[in-house]
Amino acid sequence: MRIGVCYFPEHWPSERWETDIAQMAEAGIEYVRMAEFSWGVLEPERGAFEVEWLEQALSLIGDHGMEAILCTPTATPPKWLVDEHPDMLQAERDGTVRAFGSRRHYCFNSPTYKEETERIVTKLADHFADHPDVAGWQTDNEYGCHDTVRCYCDDCARGFRTWLAEKYDPIDELNEAWGNTFWSQQYDSFEAVDPPRHSATEHHPSRLLEYYRFSNDSVVSYNRLQADRLREANDSWFVTHNFMGRFDSLDAYSVSEDLDLVTWDSYPTGFAQDRLEEGTNPTPDQLRAGDPDQVGMDHDLYRSALDRPFWVMEQQPGDVNWPPHCPQPGEGAMRLWAHHATAHGADAVLYFRWRRCLEAQEQYHAGLRKQDGSPDRGYIDATAAGSEFETLLEGHEDATDAAGRPALEHVDAPVALLHEYDNLWALSEQPHAPDFEYWNLLNAFYGALRARGVQVDVVHPETELAEYAAVVAPALHLVTPAIAARLTDYVETGGHLLFGPRTGVKDEYNKLRPTLQPGPLTDLVGATVDQHESLPSHLETAVQDPETDTQYAFRTWAEWLEPTTATVRYTYAGDTVATDRPAVVEHAVEDGHVVYCGVWPEPELADDLITSLLERADIEHTARLPTAVRVGRRGPYAWVTNFSSESLEIDISDEQVVLGSSAVGPFDVAVVDEAVVDGLVVHVHGEAE
Ligand code: GAL
Repeated sequence: MRIGVCYFPEHWPSERWETDIAQMAEAGIEYVRMAEFSWGVLEPERGAFEVEWLEQALSLIGDHGMEAILCTPTATPPKWLVDEHPDMLQAERDGTVRAFGSRRHYCFNSPTYKEETERIVTKLADHFADHPDVAGWQTDNEYGCHDTVRCYCDDCARGFRTWLAEKYDPIDELNEAWGNTFWSQQYDSFEAVDPPRHSATEHHPSRLLEYYRFSNDSVVSYNRLQADRLREANDSWFVTHNFMGRFDSLDAYSVSEDLDLVTWDSYPTGFAQDRLEEGTNPTPDQLRAGDPDQVGMDHDLYRSALDRPFWVMEQQPGDVNWPPHCPQPGEGAMRLWAHHATAHGADAVLYFRWRRCLEAQEQYHAGLRKQDGSPDRGYIDATAAGSEFETLLEGHEDATDAAGRPALEHVDAPVALLHEYDNLWALSEQPHAPDFEYWNLLNAFYGALRARGVQVDVVHPETELAEYAAVVAPALHLVTPAIAARLTDYVETGGHLLFGPRTGVKDEYNKLRPTLQPGPLTDLVGATVDQHESLPSHLETAVQDPETDTQYAFRTWAEWLEPTTATVRYTYAGDTVATDRPAVVEHAVEDGHVVYCGVWPEPELADDLITSLLERADIEHTARLPTAVRVGRRGPYAWVTNFSSESLEIDISDEQVVLGSSAVGPFDVAVVDEAVVDGLVVHVHGEAE
């Protein structure tokens, strides 16, 4: 409910700061983030610290009634440090060193870099410990950006061996757990195990999965080192980190355990291009505003990581520099994104950056102000969002944000969508079809929930599920007996559970079990998987209701199910080897209910499965929303966000509209009374209902 900005005073003459900061306050900005890449300015040579510039900027921010979020500058170790310790640089799989001249060039396992990190973080934290205008700290910047979670240097090799030796003992336990008789991959000691470096063909999937877990743990402990130092200096600061969108190699849940606030960086028109399914193109509207579900799923993931409101630490301010194409966002899109984030539970949205930079790599990236300092399109949008948030907040200050300012209450989602990075990592290494992409499979189910205006928590399978009326598990590929027991308990006590395909295929070591899929979930599902197949998109593939012959298309993946105690809901249609075999089954279990969907559903089938889940679990929902229109409910309000260039009509009376009107323009938003969400109808202007 508040807006902020990322500011780099070090890029501008100090005489300009007063003007910049006064203009920020004028725009309604309340939070300013600084210093994430400033090590070279803060310590131009070893031990010679220059922090006065940052103190001066901080004071100006405080004088104008705003607060600052400072960042540890560790994402960009300066040249003098790299020259002193070239061993701290990362290495690619083939040994190529990731050299100085860009950013994120350090290795998380370098003992030298960890010492240096401790030194600079302690120095800065102690220096600013009593500064009244610092609300909190961001550790580093976007851990893993530019594919840097996984490094293959000698320090990582040593770290990996120690990590394995702590997990398995003796080495034969590892050989057994992974299945190393295959292709003679046995090891006779932990010393013999290397990172999965460049190889002739694919690596052993168990070794890969362990390397990915190890690499993740390396970031977790590196982040903890920073968080501990910051808290030692001042434990009233919040500690946060800015995660990324649709990001694969870092487990946001595990890093978040050491944070007070989760934040992430949202660039909708960039993501719509470079995180889109291969071989597909963004729609014209997605090029202008992005895909609300792609961005929405990340909002929900980062909100769920600590089950607390999150912040958008970097919000796209206009056109950017890094996707394949850099179109201008639709008119009002920067305002729309701030509202959309708020509807998903954001307490603050900070735009990246204040002013277009005159120098270096990001000259083609917009800011809220143009390079001459005049307002850009984003500034106008951000200002509008800021004043609208102020109005919406009035009388509804039911909570406080991470910095202690009044805020709207937290989102209360009735549905949990299960997500786990182990599954992402395992499925990404063995997709078994070029178009089997983990996030897209999640989105097949998530999008159907969002198209019915339902708020969704994106949670780890070990989360307490009892509070959720329904749970959707699109890709629970690796399943331990403990997870199976939790899910069984959830259903037996009245829960409603929907599984997607490839569930329960493997154990935690990424190995098949000597029992049929879905392994430890077989009794809960009431069926086993007899066969599976992956299918190219040019085949027409559908399931059908055996009684009514109603057909629904599916794609990519098909499992032939063998019910034991479950009943058949859909069978394969058409005239193929799969015809009439069960594809979707359902199973009543004590007070609850389970559906197992053995295919990757296209939108109509997903909507059918999701609406029956919502009905059975008695969850309020809207009528099916037009593509690119989403409804998000939070506290007393519901936001109707329009990510399309068409105008909409909401079927409600004007008294039920809090902001905007029942006619919603292109890339516009209306805020309505949350009580109208159940059964709400939104249609594209001029189209029959
Ligand atoms: C983010 C990064 C920023 C800036 C921005 C450009 O990923 O954290 O420093 O590079 O992208 O869009």
